[in-house]
Amino acid sequence: MLNTNSEYLRPEIMDVIRAFGAEDENFTHYYSYSCGKFFNAVEYKDKFYDFENEFGTDDETVFKRMAKRFAKLAFYKVLAGERGTLPWGALTGIRPTKLAYAELAENRGFKDMFTEFGVSAEKTALVGRVIETQKPVYGNAGGQDLFISIPFCPTKCDYCSFITAPVSATRKYIDEYIGCLIREIASVKDIITKLNSVYIGGGTPFVLDADALEMVYSAVGKAFPEIPEYTVEAGRPDVFTEEKLKLSKDFGVTRICVNPQSFNDQTLKAIGRAHTSGQTLTAYEIARKYGFDINIDLIAGLAEERVCDFEYSVKTALSLSPENITVHTLSLKAGAKLKENTARLNIAGIGEMVALSDKLLTNAGYSPYYLYRQKYQAGGLENVGWCKDGKACAYNINVMEEITDNVAVGANAISKRLFEGDRIERLASPKDIPSYINKTDKIIVERRRLFGL
Ligand SMILES: C[S@@+](CC[C@H](N)C(=O)[O-])C[C@H]1O[C@@H](n2cnc3c(N)ncnc32)[C@H](O)[C@@H]1O
Ligand code: SF4
Repeated sequence: MLNTNSEYLRPEIMDVIRAFGAEDENFTHYYSYSCGKFFNAVEYKDKFYDFENEFGTDDETVFKRMAKRFAKLAFYKVLAGERGTLPWGALTGIRPTKLAYAELAENRGFKDMFTEFGVSAEKTALVGRVIETQKPVYGNAGGQDLFISIPFCPTKCDYCSFITAPVSATRKYIDEYIGCLIREIASVKDIITKLNSVYIGGGTPFVLDADALEMVYSAVGKAFPEIPEYTVEAGRPDVFTEEKLKLSKDFGVTRICVNPQSFNDQTLKAIGRAHTSGQTLTAYEIARKYGFDINIDLIAGLAEERVCDFEYSVKTALSLSPENITVHTLSLKAGAKLKENTARLNIAGIGEMVALSDKLLTNAGYSPYYLYRQKYQAGGLENVGWCKDGKACAYNINVMEEITDNVAVGANAISKRLFEGDRIERLASPKDIPSYINKTDKIIVERRRLFGL
């Protein structure tokens, strides 16, 4: 429990406490500012710690930012002293690269700030590498990306907190849902002036049958005849069919996700993922035949996997030579069946797994092209997307760095419009499918208003 005299600092401080998994412990915090100095006093486990930071400014926004920064750093130093450092130090946000870009925009090297926050040399270097790989896409910022949400899955995987229910429970909504999507897609045609990419995401888009998929593809094709990058997060290999892949090709899809998560069958069984590694290999082979760029999603820290199990998955993925491999570390949020068992997040060897994937992927010629972090992520680590031969997915970069407008349709979709001065306005659609269906017309009007139409 945290007692603090400064409620507006609570969320930031709690982020640090959570990063150490110390939510159940007691902390007392006293904050003050005088004579150009920030003071943070922390009582923890009957010990007292005092921190003093000199910083003067007349700008209220900068003042608040620094107050938060020094409070976070105070708690980080207390907890790191007791429990050891974290790879990302006191940085708790989901977009470390965005923070680095903000520093670079002010003509400051981001490394100084990362050092102040206690970020490890490896993670600082990783951010530098990501920024380097992102250059061609980053330099082309602006315009819009279109996201289409398909929140249906064959069954629910134990670790997943995504708002999706097994299709056995939601099948009755599919026809109506597709009808709503089609109306939404037509309604965003004139919002989009420079289309960078389309991303049909999940859920598991390939859980739709070929007819439903074709209706979505036709609506997209009618509104946007030219699509530079077109991803379908087809998803779980157990729903891949040659018919759906051919259809995707015919409608101009350029990139497909074939997601094993692990190539160990025992793990797949343990996480409630109803497919085998053999099915992944078959799905991959057919997708290759159609000439798509392919992304493979892996998760470090699943079930009882050890470093050698994860190594096997990374090496198997590499043997297929996909254009992209995304390495996630397990994160357990509310909504995941495994959430109750947060002890799982102290996974032995998780740091080693991630470091090993970095080494194997780098040696195989892949570069990290985007990264993000989540709350409750094992080992306080991160997710990294890797690409080969400069084949970075522009959609992922644009979304993560927030350098383009995102026009998002479907349930649980969040549209974002960028304004001058780093201001972003958002519009979120309802998460549950029946509410989304009931509110589609209202969402269409609100989105058009958000984009000034
Ligand atoms: C929204 S999911 C959609 C992918 C698709 N439905 C599938 O499972 O193949 C995107 C990716 O997030 C990752 N993911 C989902 N839940 C996760 C968790 N709890 N921890 C870490 N990564 C997770 C998985 O690698 C997954 O492929
Ligand atoms: S991991 Fe993918 S298939 Fe599994 S429940 Fe989540 S979104 Fe659905």
